Amino acid sequence: MIPLSLARIAGITGGQLCHGDPDAVVSGEVVIDSRRAGPGGLFAAVAGERSDGHDFAAAAVAAGATAVLATRPVTVPSVLVADVPAALAALARSVVDALPAVRIVGITGSSGKTSTKDLAAQLVERLGPTIAPAGSYNNEFGHPLTVLRADAATRYLVLELSARGIGHIAYLCRVAPPRYGVVLNVGHAHAGEFGGLDQVARAKGELAEALPADGVAILNADDPRVLAMAGRTEARIVTFSSAPVSDAPVRAVDIRLDDLGRPSFTLLTPEGAAPVTLRLHGAHNVPNALAAAALARELGMDLDGIADGLGAAVARSRWRMEVHQRPDGVTVINDAYNANPESVRAAIDALAHLAQGGRAFAILGHMAELGGTSRASHEDIGEYAARIGDSGLAGLIAVGEEAAPLLDGARRVRSWTGEALAAPDGAAALELLANRLKPSDVVLVKASRAAHLEGVAAALEGEAGQ
Ligand SMILES: Nc1ncnc2c1ncn2[C@@H]1O[C@H](COP(=O)(O)OP(=O)(O)OP(=O)(O)O)[C@@H](O)[C@H]1O
Ligand SMILES: [Mg+2]
Repeated sequence: MIPLSLARIAGITGGQLCHGDPDAVVSGEVVIDSRRAGPGGLFAAVAGERSDGHDFAAAAVAAGATAVLATRPVTVPSVLVADVPAALAALARSVVDALPAVRIVGITGSSGKTSTKDLAAQLVERLGPTIAPAGSYNNEFGHPLTVLRADAATRYLVLELSARGIGHIAYLCRVAPPRYGVVLNVGHAHAGEFGGLDQVARAKGELAEALPADGVAILNADDPRVLAMAGRTEARIVTFSSAPVSDAPVRAVDIRLDDLGRPSFTLLTPEGAAPVTLRLHGAHNVPNALAAAALARELGMDLDGIADGLGAAVARSRWRMEVHQRPDGVTVINDAYNANPESVRAAIDALAHLAQGGRAFAILGHMAELGGTSRASHEDIGEYAARIGDSGLAGLIAVGEEAAPLLDGARRVRSWTGEALAAPDGAAALELLANRLKPSDVVLVKASRAAHLEGVAAALEGEAGQ
């Protein structure tokens, strides 16, 4: 964080300083979780559904925070503003303006933003000091908080941009204008809120539109809606592709998965070819790796460095395709972070691959925010699960009533011999599975964030001899 006095913070945010020394300096982290407030930091008080940050203002200052950013009076040093996200945005933008040499990267798409951001950050860190968000800090709170961590030593900002509606990404791009923009895919995540895939494409394409003429738009050539964004930007276009035939400059060919679903491929760029083996699981991480590679190449990394960096990169954010082998021979895939139709298909693909030689089970919760297509999408995924591999999943356990259409879809497949099982909650799902699991079986756990199935995955991981 660039040190800022309270007077300066009030000036930038148009806020009013209360109970504070105008010369007191904020030099620590800006946080919205009071438990993370520390010496010299700034605590932004936000009123949530369950608790109101203002109630923790005094605790944050007691923990060392210099002041609180608040929308109503508190008894400790504070800057009173009308709107906390807007104030954070103004502060973040002032930091960006003070650091013109920092190269800013924005990454968006319906699935894989965090996975790609984590890969890209691990490459870019090799080039110089890099700030990237922890986990999925990608909205009007997490985005400015991440930007605010930059200081004079920072060379790169690798940012994840999310949208739940039109204008959201344009807004985040005004907070920290990216010169490099990566668009991964246009899928059904939040499609209900957007009102269809074309609207999702319109929203994600705001990143391309925000790029300057001397910027670079890194686009997935395998997704027609993403490729079409080439027409919406002044920036130079660089595409990537994992299709067997493509004229994209950055490609993956000879893609193979090992027994645990970790992809190997030959990375092709105009500079040559290099072998890559990822530590991440699932074929869907190939496009994510290509996006990171294309970015690193634009930032000046050579091919060997890129291949080496991709091979060394680990999963930094939890519950995305974590593969856990139990001592009893059962393998658990914990992909419980989130779910939408594309990412569930990708996970079922990985499950089927890992289960070659054993049986595949999936504990699936519902996919949220799909709007009018929700029932049909669930049925289609159920059908997909019943058709995968030679004979479909051995067992499909749908958790909760909203996930039940998954089972209807699976039952549509007449030839399917697997079991369609309904569980009211995670505990019931575990019970159903416990009677059935045998060594060499593989279990996938996945649902939208709201379902919190990571507890189910943790219980499964912890079982049997640990
Ligand atoms: N390129 C991809 N295509 C399809 N699914 C993917 C892809 N990359 C990751 N996934 C799957 O999507 C889920 C979410 O991954 P990740 O957290 O990287 O995405 P995200 O776009 O950041 O999601 P969010 O919108 O929740 O921030 C994971 O379960 C992962 O396995
Ligand atoms: Mg994310």
